[in-house]
Amino acid sequence: MTKIISFIGQKGGSGKSTIAVHFAMEALLSQEGCQVAIIDMDPQGSVLEWSRMRKDANPVVVSATAKTLEQTLKQAQEEGFDYVVVDTPGRQDTTLIELVSAMSDLILLPLRPSLFDVRAVAGTITLLNAKACKMRFLLSQTPARGNQVADAEAYCARAHSEVAITRSKIGYRTAFQKAMIDGQGVQEVGRDGKKGQLEIAGLFEEILDLLGN
Ligand SMILES: Nc1ncnc2c1ncn2[C@@H]1O[C@H](COP(=O)(O)OP(=O)(O)OP(=O)(O)O)[C@@H](O)[C@H]1O
Ligand SMILES: [Mg+2]
Repeated sequence: MTKIISFIGQKGGSGKSTIAVHFAMEALLSQEGCQVAIIDMDPQGSVLEWSRMRKDANPVVVSATAKTLEQTLKQAQEEGFDYVVVDTPGRQDTTLIELVSAMSDLILLPLRPSLFDVRAVAGTITLLNAKACKMRFLLSQTPARGNQVADAEAYCARAHSEVAITRSKIGYRTAFQKAMIDGQGVQEVGRDGKKGQLEIAGLFEEILDLLGN
């Protein structure tokens, strides 16, 4: 059955597109014969642009709007895709969030560990809670040192105790930036991508567990 994993977050630049792409790449590379699609719902089209640079048919990347999402997902299910990753724009209206959450098996909310960012997530959570969908915070662009991660985790646990935080974290790594510009995944760039690669592999395993695969 097709698993639909969506990346949401109204704060721009939290890492939605970067993690969506790398999650899809991990599914593609770690499971032989796996069919993976990314649906780019952002008019900025950063995932489509990544795919153009990539010059490879896999993962399949298509765009969709609120109007076409349901049909696009139906088609992916009929075509037997194993995973569909949905990347949404930073400034989403509530209708789009409701629509995406209603159709997803899991919502991931990437969050930079800064107080500005973690405070800004409240509105989105209220909306998603009302939909009672499965969701997780995912700390992203985390610094190697300092208290920011622990502070963000404590804040989330206090302010949004109903939403768990993934064990996996995605560190701040230039390899992610470079891979995105070059149409690659950190899984493909050799030694420079190694740490990022391990983080994404850990995240993928954690999510598979969550989805009961
Ligand atoms: N783990 C990371 N390490 C270093 N840089 C990162 C990481 N994740 C994202 N970035 C950089 O941060 C910026 C924003 O990332 P990205 O485009 O993935 O966020 P987004 O949530 O999709 O943004 P938007 O809301 O605008 O769609 C980009 O320049 C990207 O290269
Ligand atoms: Mg984006």
